Amino acid sequence: MTSRLDSVDGLGFFLYRSTARPGLDQGDMHDILTEARRRNQQLGLTGCLHHEDGLFFQWLEGPAPALLQLIALLDQDPRHLNLEVLDEGALDYRRFQDWRMRFSDRDRASLMDWFAVSDNSTVHRGDYAGGITAFLMSVAA
Ligand SMILES: Cc1cc2nc3c(=O)[nH]c(=O)nc-3n(C[C@H](O)[C@H](O)[C@H](O)COP(=O)(O)O)c2cc1C
Repeated sequence: MTSRLDSVDGLGFFLYRSTARPGLDQGDMHDILTEARRRNQQLGLTGCLHHEDGLFFQWLEGPAPALLQLIALLDQDPRHLNLEVLDEGALDYRRFQDWRMRFSDRDRASLMDWFAVSDNSTVHRGDYAGGITAFLMSVAA
């Protein structure tokens, strides 16, 4: 996968959406989060993962080379499919500095409900990515 992060010096971010593998259960989620928190600590990455209606939304931030290393793993991970990059690039400061990987799901907060009452459009790409980022920041607050 080529990435705009290839040309980023320093801090970068990566925002994507993917489809959870059908049949993914609580045990799988627990494994994903345990691995994520361990490796993110090693790589200096922070962020937030939200799971809702069979979809994952994840914001990752940290040194660009570490992000690229993780993206290569994510791209091969059979526990999710159809990874779609929503936004990526350079970052001026961390949005999730207190979280190795904040996790939320529909029990905690609903992205669909959030969009229903927000001014962000789900149709325009930049607006959609911005809405998801704002939602993830709200669940981690
Ligand atoms: C939706 C999703 C999110 C993930 N997020 C992370 C993450 O933030 N950090 C991480 O290290 N691994 C994450 N993983 C797991 C990686 O894809 C990869 O399987 C794992 O890092 C490999 O760990 P291992 O080499 O210890 O087996 C995620 C996997 C999925 C399916």
